[in-house]
Amino acid sequence: MDKTNAVELKNVEMHFNMSKEKLESLKEYFLKLASRNLMFEDFVALENINLSIKKGDVFGILGLNGSGKSTTLKIISGILEPTRGSVETSGVIAPLIELGAGFDMELTARENIYLNGSVLGFSKKFMDEKFDDIVEFSEMSEFLDVPMKNYSSGMVARIGFAIATMTTPDILIVDEILSVGDFLFQKKCENRINEMLKGDTTVIIVSHSLEQIERLCNHCMWLDKGKVKMIGDTNEVCEAYRNFNK
Ligand SMILES: Nc1ncnc2c1ncn2[C@@H]1O[C@H](COP(=O)(O)OP(=O)(O)O)[C@@H](O)[C@H]1O
Ligand SMILES: [Mg+2]
Repeated sequence: MDKTNAVELKNVEMHFNMSKEKLESLKEYFLKLASRNLMFEDFVALENINLSIKKGDVFGILGLNGSGKSTTLKIISGILEPTRGSVETSGVIAPLIELGAGFDMELTARENIYLNGSVLGFSKKFMDEKFDDIVEFSEMSEFLDVPMKNYSSGMVARIGFAIATMTTPDILIVDEILSVGDFLFQKKCENRINEMLKGDTTVIIVSHSLEQIERLCNHCMWLDKGKVKMIGDTNEVCEAYRNFNK
């Protein structure tokens, strides 16, 4: 991989196998499966994606619902393995993919902060040191001992973002999360992203706010039905996207 790149995708394809038939019961499903009579439809979610993202870049991914944005982020994070093609990344990745992924909603925020820390491979001692920062950034100190199932999506996003950014990852991946919190919190997250960029962190953002992408990103990729429609400078890609969707 080119040393100046944080991410390289080459000829990446992602297929999902989906059952074609509506079956009446689980029993019917297993019978069909056992007799190899179950028909699967091959759904191509991403086709021939070639993409390199430079270290220190803020990279946006645009596209309508279902165009393959989250799938791309999951492949970059290593959560999904592509059906074909190669994926290379450099350094530690902090993926903020789905709201609440990595949280046990039955547990309190306090418990989840420690749980998340251990999933990320951090010691209890390290988490003790970071705990106050996380709580302060998330502004959730009053709700720390409430099970997270009682949280709004904005509150979950606050805790998630605070944990993902407690250390400076080499690559920060943010899927739609900046759009759920309130305006002030979004600004705070944007400031933290901007701070990270003074270091060498690469940030990859999916947002349905075109304005947010324009504010934060240097380069963008526009996905359309699983294919790259355009990659380039944010201004050019966003303008083309706007005109296309008018
Ligand atoms: N695990 C899965 N199984 C089957 N189809 C999936 C799966 N994940 C995503 N898809 C399909 O792949 C397409 C792209 O999904 P996604 O990457 O989530 O799009 P976006 O984030 O741009 O809205 C959609 O049609 C979606 O239904
Ligand atoms: Mg998505």
